[in-house]
Amino acid sequence: FNVPIAVNEPVKSYAPGTPERTAVLEAYKTMYNSKIEIPLYINGKYVSTGNTKPISPPHDHQHIVGSYHLAEKHHVEDAIATALEARKKWSKIPWEQRAGIFLKAAELVAGPYRAKINAATMMGQSKNIHQAEIDSACELVDFLRFNVQYMTDIYMEQPESTSDAWNRVEYRPLEGFTYAVTPFNFTAIAGNLPSCMALMGNVVVWKPSDSQVYSAKVIMDIFEEAGVPPGVINVVFGDPEMISNTVLSSPDFSGLHFTGSTFVFKELWKQIGNNIHNYKTYPRIVGETGGKDFIIAHNSAVPKQVSTALSRGAFEFQGQKCSAASRAYIPKSIWGDVKKYLLEDVKSFKIGSPEDMDNFITAVIHEGSFDKLAKYIDAAKNDNEAEIIAGGNYDKSKGYFVEPTVIVTQDPKYTTMCTELFGPVLTIYVYEDDAYAETLKLVDETSDYGLTGAILSTDRYAITEATDALQNSAGNFYINDKCTGAVVGQQPFGGARASGTNDKAGSAQNLMRWVSPRLIKETF
Ligand code: ALA
Repeated sequence: FNVPIAVNEPVKSYAPGTPERTAVLEAYKTMYNSKIEIPLYINGKYVSTGNTKPISPPHDHQHIVGSYHLAEKHHVEDAIATALEARKKWSKIPWEQRAGIFLKAAELVAGPYRAKINAATMMGQSKNIHQAEIDSACELVDFLRFNVQYMTDIYMEQPESTSDAWNRVEYRPLEGFTYAVTPFNFTAIAGNLPSCMALMGNVVVWKPSDSQVYSAKVIMDIFEEAGVPPGVINVVFGDPEMISNTVLSSPDFSGLHFTGSTFVFKELWKQIGNNIHNYKTYPRIVGETGGKDFIIAHNSAVPKQVSTALSRGAFEFQGQKCSAASRAYIPKSIWGDVKKYLLEDVKSFKIGSPEDMDNFITAVIHEGSFDKLAKYIDAAKNDNEAEIIAGGNYDKSKGYFVEPTVIVTQDPKYTTMCTELFGPVLTIYVYEDDAYAETLKLVDETSDYGLTGAILSTDRYAITEATDALQNSAGNFYINDKCTGAVVGQQPFGGARASGTNDKAGSAQNLMRWVSPRLIKETF
């Protein structure tokens, strides 16, 4: 299995005067001033439906940069039919040809499309350039490259044979078609979900988030240019309920690859259950959903390291990473220092539009998210159990801006310690130093989700106590680091409990879910 060895795409600096900075700013300006129309993409053709919705940057919501087309039921049915037709050829082409397409897609993202996909992510999802770069450039490239390598790992997994009987496993694609539902918060995830299923020989109906259409269009263009044949990946936008109802009621539906909210994932799972007698095969269900990710410091931790983990982990991309730290447990003896450094960090974060590259914090994704965050911040202002020590202001006159906000509470079960907010709000509980064991127990008991978490300590016994006590509270558990920033090929990503099926993104284990192996025994 001779494939190029996967390497992580290096992160570019975008420092003033660099060519990458000039290129991304130019791409951003062009997009900002254009009026793009984004149709559906079915059978390799762009399909306009006549029913459109405007697209505006979250940081500049009165400015329209284009519109996207909404599917009717018959468009979704067309997407399914065309995928099933494409399957006849796609499922039979040699894996090297599929690998060639997605390796080329990786090089297109890393090179000619880098400025464009970053600019689209900055404009459509309000990421600052550094967050856009690690997501839509590097992570997407890494998914595409590493998945090709993981695919060969799978194909190499073969049973024993004897001289008179040769046993072999063919890792065949699933019968029927698969369905990818992707989120706004990572362009890389949006690209990974449909492409890893297609890489394994499947055909896909892909529904991107309504808040990610701009960069989804760039991904579509890249896949097309890389040579994904017509019908293999079909893209539909529009009413999520109608699209999912149509897809999940097809007898040929054979797999859901989902990243999004816990509520929606559970609803889709229920629907799949209700339709189970209609399907030709048991559908595969893979989901990465919500999180209420935590950082715990032990009193042996280095305060500056703790404050950096908090400020980066909680506020990068406005706290809208599924992995973002949103609750923290800090011992009293180091709290004074941690607080001092944390407030310094938060005050240093500039807020504004992403085209000003000095801005660290930009807008949250939409008005619904803004209003929800404002409601919880207002409640904290009035609650006796909570004190806001940083931020607390918000303004949606131009864009959906919410200040990075730090709440301190004496109640470890205070609402914002337990509720997923998906925004730049961090709640901290300060515990007595001698209550470390109880605090670990409390963290576990209040972890309905189980996505990411971190322990900071210089004491190995304390670290071991935490890893023992928190067996299922975090699928990605970090020691002396923040709880965000998993890198493909290094930290496969995913969690259990209400956070998902824990079929790590960026792993052979994930790709295995998209094949239906056939064992062949040949006797001589
Ligand atoms: N790769 C993303 C992170 O770990 C999800 O933050």
